[in-house]
Amino acid sequence: MRPFLIAVAALGIGLGGVALAVPVKPGTAVAYRQGLYHAILWNFVPMARMVQGREPWNQAAFAGNATSIAFYSTQLLQGFTPGSITPRSEAKPEIWQNWADFSAKMKNFEDASAKLAAVARAGNEGASKEAFRQTVATCKSCHDKYRRE
Ligand code: HEC
Repeated sequence: MRPFLIAVAALGIGLGGVALAVPVKPGTAVAYRQGLYHAILWNFVPMARMVQGREPWNQAAFAGNATSIAFYSTQLLQGFTPGSITPRSEAKPEIWQNWADFSAKMKNFEDASAKLAAVARAGNEGASKEAFRQTVATCKSCHDKYRRE
């Protein structure tokens, strides 16, 4: 096989756009979602510092961070492939035993962060801070139940 075809085969992508059923390795799923959580945290920390008054308020920066988080939030659920737990993962097996509840909690987070991004772009500082607190509550509500300490 030519190198291009080997690369395509390795990715599990059939020619003509037909995807072959190659299961994602648990370690790949864990790395994917942890990467997203770190990208979320990267945006989250400066927002928290502004909300706490430890950094000067910057509405444009806050709105930019919020917009990134709103996008990342929509990419997370697919990273929780069935039973994907490795020693590096802090995910609890209960996620897959209560998938409907876990997905609902993820949806709450997506909705809260979409609202946060919209409110932040609209430009009101007080409303932005309140929407941030509401988003934080959705992180905590899921971690309390589905993330190992
Ligand atoms: C619907 C559930 C859910 C929501 C909502 C959620 N998380 Fe998590 N989070 C998890 C789970 C489960 C893990 C453990 C993932 C793993 O290690 O496999 C995790 C892990 C993390 C990690 C650690 C990543 C690592 O490399 O160990 C960070 C940081 C994090 N979350 C931040 C956040 C923040 C900030 C929010 C909200 C803005 C949030 N999470 C919302 C479920 C959630």
